[in-house]
Amino acid sequence: MNIQQLGRTVFLLALLGSGIAAAADAPVDPNWTGIGRDPGEQRFSPLKRIHDKNVKGLKLAWHADLHTFRGVEANPIVVDGVLYNVSAWSIATAYDATNGKVLWTYDPKVPVEWSRIACCGPVSRGLAYGDGKIVVGALDGRLVALDAKTGKEIWSTQTFDKGQPLAITGAPRIANGNVIIGNAGGDLGARGYVSAYDLKTGKQAWKFYIVPGDPAKPDGVASDPVMPMAAKTWKGEWWKTGGGGNAWDGMVVDPAQHLVFIATGNGSPHPIAFRSPGGGDNLFLCSIVAIDARTGEYRWHFQEVPGEEWDYDCANGPILADIELDGQKRQVLLHSPKDGFFRVLDRTNGKLLSAAGYVPTTWASHVDMASGRPVVNPEAHLKEMPVLLTPGFGGGHNWNPMSYSPITGLAYIPAQEQYEVISRKADGEFKFVLGQSTNGQAIGNYPELRKELNAYAQNNEKGYLLAWDPVKQKEAFRVTYPFPGSGGTLVTAGNLVVQGTINKTLAIYRADNGQKLWEMPVQSVPAAAPMSYEVKGKQYIAVNAGWNSAIVAKLSTPEKPFSFAEARLLVFSLDGKDKLPPAPASSSIEPPPSEQQPIEAVKAGQVLYTEHCAICHGQNAVGGVKDLRYLSEDKHGQFFNIVLGGILKKGGMQSFADKVTKDQAAQIHSYVINRAQEDWQPDFMKPKRK
Ligand code: HEC
Repeated sequence: MNIQQLGRTVFLLALLGSGIAAAADAPVDPNWTGIGRDPGEQRFSPLKRIHDKNVKGLKLAWHADLHTFRGVEANPIVVDGVLYNVSAWSIATAYDATNGKVLWTYDPKVPVEWSRIACCGPVSRGLAYGDGKIVVGALDGRLVALDAKTGKEIWSTQTFDKGQPLAITGAPRIANGNVIIGNAGGDLGARGYVSAYDLKTGKQAWKFYIVPGDPAKPDGVASDPVMPMAAKTWKGEWWKTGGGGNAWDGMVVDPAQHLVFIATGNGSPHPIAFRSPGGGDNLFLCSIVAIDARTGEYRWHFQEVPGEEWDYDCANGPILADIELDGQKRQVLLHSPKDGFFRVLDRTNGKLLSAAGYVPTTWASHVDMASGRPVVNPEAHLKEMPVLLTPGFGGGHNWNPMSYSPITGLAYIPAQEQYEVISRKADGEFKFVLGQSTNGQAIGNYPELRKELNAYAQNNEKGYLLAWDPVKQKEAFRVTYPFPGSGGTLVTAGNLVVQGTINKTLAIYRADNGQKLWEMPVQSVPAAAPMSYEVKGKQYIAVNAGWNSAIVAKLSTPEKPFSFAEARLLVFSLDGKDKLPPAPASSSIEPPPSEQQPIEAVKAGQVLYTEHCAICHGQNAVGGVKDLRYLSEDKHGQFFNIVLGGILKKGGMQSFADKVTKDQAAQIHSYVINRAQEDWQPDFMKPKRK
C-alpha cells in the first residue's frame, strides 16, 4: 500500500468511526493549507457535512480574542487539526482547530512606525504553509519561517530596503520550493517588485521588478531581460518618482506550468501626466504577469488598464479554473479588478477570452476584444476640472476575496458601486516627496461643482454579493446590502456561500440561487473571507471578524455611530456551544465646535489634510480609520497632542511633527472643524427621504 492509499484508508476509517456512511463521501482533503485553499485559490471547499438542508443549525463552536481594533484580513489555514492565523501587526498564532486552545504565538514586534507606511492599517492577508514550516510576511518587510509545531523561528530575511516606503500586507505563496512575496507602497512613490526565497534557507532565489528603473542601470535581477520592452511604454524620467505597480495582494500558482501569476497595482504618482508625461501604457502597471516560479523569468503579461491613472489597482486575487467555453475545455484565469471589468484569460498564453462590466463603469464603455483594451471615456482622463467616476478608488471589488465553485460554475464577488470626484493638480504644481501620498489631486478648486458631485457620490453608493457567470459573462443573481463594504466569500460543495456582511453579521446563502439560509450577528464586519476545514469527521467554518473600517459615506450617523467589537477569530460547527460576550455599547457623536474657522486656514488645511491625512482618514474627511468629523470635544482639545505629540502612537496614529509645523496642524484642525460643521446638519448623513 503506498502512502496515498494508506492516507485514503485512514481517512475512510475516520469517516466510519464517526458513524457517517463513507460510501457517499469521496475522500477529500480535510485541510485548508493555502490562503485560497488550492494553489489556484478558488476558495472552494469540497466539504459538505454542513449543507443547505442542515446549516440552519450552525452554531459558534469557539472563538479567540485577537486584542486589536485594527483590521484582520487573513484566511486562517488548517493543517492536520491545527489552525494557524495571523492578526494585525503580523502576529501569528496556532490553535487546536477543534477547541481554540492556543499552541503557540509568534509576535514579530513590528515597529509601530510602520503603520504610517501601510496605507490601510497594519494588516496581513495570510500565512503560507510548506515543508513543516509556517511563513509570516511581517509588515516591516521581514519574511519569517517558523517551525509549525513550536512556532520557533527557523530563518528570517529582510525583503526590502527600509529606506523605501514599502510594507508587506499580502500573504506569502509557496511554489517550487520558493516562498514568493510582494509588497505595498504604490501610493507613496515606491517601485514595486516580487521576490522569492528558498523555503529551506530563506536565501533569495530571484527578484522581479514590476516597473522599469533607469534604463542606464540594469538591476541585475530576473526582470532585467524584459525591462527594456517595458521601458518603451514609459516617457520622461519616470524612475525618479518610483512608478509603483506594487503587488500588495493577489498571486496564484499553477503547479503544472511552474508559473506564478502576479496581479499588479496602480501607478505612482497616480496622474500619468506626472508619472510618464506624454502617456504610454506603462508596463506592467495593472496587469497579470506570468513568471516562472523556479527562476523568476518572464513568460507573458496581460495589461488590464493601460496607462492607469485612477488608482485602479489590479492587485486583488485572481482565480484559476478549468471551464468549458464554446464546447472547449479551457485553462483560465478569472479576475475582477478594481476597474469594474470581469476578465477571463487563457492562462497558458495570457490571451483575453472575454470581458464584461460586472459593475457600472463610467470611465470606460467596454473592453475591445480585438485589442484587449478598455475603451476609455475621453472625459475620464484626469485634468484640473473634477469629474465623477465609477468605480472610485475603492474599486468595484477590492482585496476582499471572491470565490469560485466548480459545481455551480459561478464566481461570488463582494461587489460595490462607489463614485469618486477626481481631478489632478495643474502641470508643474506636483512636487514628488518619497513616502508622501502621490495621488497628485487638485484640491478645493471648483468648490460648487465638487459639492454637487460629492452629494451625488454619497447618495449613490451600493454594495452587494454578486454571483457572476464567467462563461456567459453575466450576473446570475445578487444579494443586496444597505452599504458597500461587506467581506470576502467562501463557497462549499454543500451548496453554501458564506460572507461577512456590513450589517455586522456572518451570512450563508444557497450557492445556486442566493436564498438566505442562516445569519448570525457577530459584533463586527468580517471583512476577510471565511474558510472551512474538517477534523475527526467534523466540519467547521471559520472567519476573522476584524474590521479595518471602510470609506462608506453614510454608515455612521451622528445619532448612531458605527461601533464594532475588538477583532475575533470565530469558528462554527453544527453542534457548537460557545457564546460571544455582550456587544460593546454604542456611543453618540458630539457636535463640532461652533466657532467659524478663517477661510484661508480652511483652504490651506484642506491641501495639507489631503497630502498627509486623507490616506487613512478618507478623502474629504469622510470615513477612514477614524472619521475626523466626529471628534469628541476632548479629542478636539487634544488635537496637537495627537497630531504632533504622538499620544495615540500605540493605536497607529504616529506623530506628524516631522511633516507639519504647529501652524500647519492648526490649519488642518480648522479644515476638519469646517468639514464637521458643513456636515452637521440634521439631515446630512442620512439617506435622502423622498
Ligand atoms: C497611517 C494612517 C494615518 C495617517 C496618515 C493619519 N492618521 Fe490619524 N489616526 C490613525 C489611526 C489608526 C487612529 C486611531 C488611533 C487610536 O484610536 O488609538 C488615528 C486617530 C487620529 C485622531 C484621533 C481620532 C479619535 O477620534 O480618536 C486624530 C485627531 C487624528 N488621527 C488626526 C490625524 C491628522 C490631522 C492626520 C494628518 C496630519 C492624520 N491623523 C494622519 C491613522 C492615521
